[in-house]
Amino acid sequence: MELRVSALRPFLGFLVLLLTPLSNARFVVEKNSLRVTSPDRIKGTYDSAIGNFGIPQYGGSMAGAVVYPNSNQKGCKEFSDFGISFQSKPGALPTFVLVDRGDCFFALKVWNAQKAGASAVLVADNVEEALITMDSPEEDGSSAKYIENITIPSALIDKSFGETLKRSISSGDMVNVNLDWRESVPHPDDRVEYELWTNSNDECGVKCDMLMEFVKDFKGAAQILEKGGYTQFTPHYITWYCPQAFTLSKQCKSQCINHGRYCAPDPEQDFSSGYNGKDVVLENLRQLCVFKVANETKKPWAWWDYVTDFQIRCPMKEKKYNRECANAVIQSLGLDLKKIDKCMGDPNTDSDNLVLKEEQDAQVGKGSRGDVTILPTLVVNNRQYRGKLAKGAVLKAICSGFEETTEPAVCLSGDVETNECLDNNGGCWQDKGGNITACKDTFRGRVCECPLVDGVRFKGDGYTTCEASGPGRCKINNGGCWHDAQNGHAFSACTDDGEVKCKCPPGFKGDGVNSCTDIDECKEKKACQCPECSCKNTWGSYDCSCSGDLLYIRDHDTCISKTASETRSSWVAVWVILIGLAMAGGGAYLVYKYRLRSYMDSEIRAIMAQYMPLDSQAEVPNHVNDERA
Ligand SMILES: *[C@@H]1O[C@H](CO)[C@@H](O)[C@H](O)[C@H]1NC(C)=O
Ligand SMILES: *[C@@H]1O[C@H](CO)[C@@H](O)[C@H](O)[C@H]1NC(C)=O
Ligand SMILES: *[C@@H]1O[C@H](CO)[C@@H](O)[C@H](O)[C@H]1NC(C)=O
Repeated sequence: MELRVSALRPFLGFLVLLLTPLSNARFVVEKNSLRVTSPDRIKGTYDSAIGNFGIPQYGGSMAGAVVYPNSNQKGCKEFSDFGISFQSKPGALPTFVLVDRGDCFFALKVWNAQKAGASAVLVADNVEEALITMDSPEEDGSSAKYIENITIPSALIDKSFGETLKRSISSGDMVNVNLDWRESVPHPDDRVEYELWTNSNDECGVKCDMLMEFVKDFKGAAQILEKGGYTQFTPHYITWYCPQAFTLSKQCKSQCINHGRYCAPDPEQDFSSGYNGKDVVLENLRQLCVFKVANETKKPWAWWDYVTDFQIRCPMKEKKYNRECANAVIQSLGLDLKKIDKCMGDPNTDSDNLVLKEEQDAQVGKGSRGDVTILPTLVVNNRQYRGKLAKGAVLKAICSGFEETTEPAVCLSGDVETNECLDNNGGCWQDKGGNITACKDTFRGRVCECPLVDGVRFKGDGYTTCEASGPGRCKINNGGCWHDAQNGHAFSACTDDGEVKCKCPPGFKGDGVNSCTDIDECKEKKACQCPECSCKNTWGSYDCSCSGDLLYIRDHDTCISKTASETRSSWVAVWVILIGLAMAGGGAYLVYKYRLRSYMDSEIRAIMAQYMPLDSQAEVPNHVNDERA
C-alpha cells in the first residue's frame, strides 16, 4: 500500500483523496527465480522480487558468490568507508552482495554496493511478509542522480531465506547462487505485444523527465520493431474519475472532462494558475486518437513521432501545450486531423467517451498482469516490466519475449549490450594483450565463448583458456610459436600447411616455441666455404662475397666468372639440361603407358572373372572398356 501511494503521488498531488482510481488496485510483484547451487544443504529454488531500478538481465541468468559484509550490513553508507570491496578477482565468480532492508532507500543500498564492485544485490527483508517490489524513491533530487547510474540488477528475498543464507555464510560455506530472469517474460511466439502506460504531462518532475527521455531514446528501436512486424505496441493512458458527490465542485470541473468521468491531477498542483488536469486529459485523449487513426492506416509507429514532436514543439513551459500546437504537429506528420477530432468527441457531453472508457477498463489487470498503478509502466507479453526505464534495459526485456531464435536483428546488436564485458571482462578469458576476448555481450546476458578472430577459431572453455586452432592460426599471435624481428627483418617459427607447427625457420635452430637462435653459417661451415668465398654471418642468414671478378651464386654456393665465355658455356649447359629433360620425359611417358596398360588389363581381367572363369592368357576384347562405363 505504501508503495502504491508513493508512486502515484507525483501525479495525484493533493487530489489523491478526491480522485479515485478505478478499482481497488492490486500491485503485482514480478518475480525471478533464485537458485542456490551450493552448498548442498540449502540447494534449491527460491523466489525473489525484481527491483524497479537497475538493469535486470531479462532473458538471461547470472551466477555469483554471495557475500554478507561484516559491517555496513544495511548498505546505507559507502562500503569504501569500511575498507570493503566486492571486486571479484579475474576468473572468479561475480560477487552478489547480501544487505538487510531498512534505514535507507533500496536504491541507495544497491548504488553503494555497485560502487564497491558488486555485480548484483540481494536485499533481505526485515519482516515476514509476502515479497514486495523495491521501487525507486519518489522524486528527490539527490537520489535521482545515482538511480540513473545503477546498472546492476537487484532483488528482494524474504526474511527467512535471508537468514538461511547468512547462517550458511557465517559457518564458512561458499554460497553460490544463480539469478534467473529467463522466465520473467513469457516468450511463446515470434511476436511480442507490449504496452506503455504513459502520460502527456511534461511537468511532473523526475518521473516525467525520465519518461520523456525514454520515449525519445526508444523511438528508433520501437519503430524498427513495429515496421518489421516483430512487435505490436499499444500506448495507454491512465485516467481517474471524480466521485459522484464532487462532480460539480470547482476542482472536478477543472480536472475532468465528460462531467467528471475522466480526470487527471493538476500539473502544477495549483488550481488557480497554469494548466489544469483537464488539459492533460485532453492531450492524453488526443495521443490515443493519434494512435488509433495511425493504426487504422497501418502506420501505428507514427505515434512515436507524434509524441516526441509534441514534447519538443509544445511544452508547458513555453505555454504551447494546447490544441493549436498539437494540430500543427498532426498536420506536419500528414495525419488525418478530421478523423482525430472525430475520435476525440465532445469533452463537454454528459456521456462516455468510448476511447477513454476502453482505457479505464484496460487499467484493471485481467489474469496475470495486475492493475496498472505506477506511471510509467511497461507491460511486455502481459507481464509488468521491472527495472530502469532506459532503452537498453527495455529492449532487453522485449527481446526476451521472443521465442528463442526468432528475435530480430536489433536484439542482437549493440543496442542491448549489457556492458558486463567492461567489468572484469565479464570473468571470461582474454589474451595477454587484452584485445582478444571470450566475453560476448548479448541481450541474454554476457556469455564466455571462445571467439573467431580474422577467420581463426579459438577453442577452449571460454573462462580460463582459449587457444587458436585450425588453419590460419599463425595469423594470431604467431600460433604461440617463437617470433622475433631485428633490423626490419621479421621471422616466425609458425608453419601452417594444413597443420600448424612451430618449427624454426631456415637459418635458425631451436625448439620453435620458446626460442630459435641464429645459426652462424660461417662458423658451422654450412655455406660459403669455397676458396674464393668470404663469409659474414647475419641474423637468420649470411652474406657471401667472392674475391676478384667472381660472382657468388647462392643456389649453388659457389663463385663463377662473370665473363662472356662463361656465359656461352652456361647456354650449352642449359641445352644439355633441356635435352636431358626431354629424354627423361619421353622415357617416363613410355613407362607410364606400359604401366597403365598392364594395370587396365589386370582390372579388366578381375571384372571379367566375376562373370566367367578366364583362361590365364585369354584375349581381352577392346570394347569391354566402353561397356564398363
Ligand atoms: C552518473 O554518470 C554520469 C555519466 O557517466 C556522471 O557524469 C555522473 O557524475 C554520475 N552520477 C553519480 C551520482 O555518480
Ligand atoms: C491496431 O491494428 C491492428 C490491426 O491492424 C489491430 O489488431 C489492433 O487491435 C489495433 N490496435 C488498436 C489499439 O486499435
Ligand atoms: C592486439 O593489439 C596489438 C597492439 O596493442 C596489435 O599489435 C595486435 O595486432 C592486436 N591483435 C589483434 C588480433 O587485433
